[in-house]
Amino acid sequence: MSEVLDTAYEIGMSLVQGVLPDNRPEILKKISQTDWSTEQCHLYHRFLFAWAEHIKPSLIVETGTDRGYSAIHLAMGRTSAKVISIDNRSLCSDQLNALNVPNVDTITEDSLKVVDRFEDHSIDLLFLDSLHTCEHLSKEIELYVPKVRPGSLVFVDDISMTGEMAQGWARVAYPKRSIPKLHVTGFGAFQV
Ligand SMILES: C[S@@+](CC[C@H](N)C(=O)[O-])C[C@H]1O[C@@H](n2cnc3c(N)ncnc32)[C@H](O)[C@@H]1O
Repeated sequence: MSEVLDTAYEIGMSLVQGVLPDNRPEILKKISQTDWSTEQCHLYHRFLFAWAEHIKPSLIVETGTDRGYSAIHLAMGRTSAKVISIDNRSLCSDQLNALNVPNVDTITEDSLKVVDRFEDHSIDLLFLDSLHTCEHLSKEIELYVPKVRPGSLVFVDDISMTGEMAQGWARVAYPKRSIPKLHVTGFGAFQV
């Protein structure tokens, strides 16, 4: 088993068990209290913040921006890193840009169409959370993994949300672990 996957699992479990103090800036704590859906995302948001703090990445890429709350956690976890968040809905880029986080850039496009903007082995942390179909997840993994620095982790949200996502996760052929209870719909990590 991989040491880095074990570390991610242990950090995730410390959050689930409530033994890690919440050291996030106030703005992030407020996001967790916005509504029922952000309350539900609270632990994996905290995990993304903690992981960005832990590994000290330079480049972080997220597919699937939505309201921008994961992106802002990643960005504030490592303020010297650049976070690039991709969503095909311009509303999502607008929402994230409105949060005014200096180290975040947005791309409004289909995630599968913009992979060439990234150099091989340049991404230190990749978070896949866009279209939740088996085919899209598998294609994102095929296209984006060559862009990830070898040894780094890729996180996948919602791996047990649907049968499609479970199938997509089952297809992941890299060393992997799911981190139980970090998100009610599942959260997985694999090592490139
Ligand atoms: C689950 S939400 C992302 C949540 C966000 N990562 C978070 O944790 O706060 C999924 C997002 O993926 C976007 N999406 C769906 N299909 C996409 C595609 N082909 N390319 C890029 N984004 C896509 C949707 O517009 C939606 O905002």
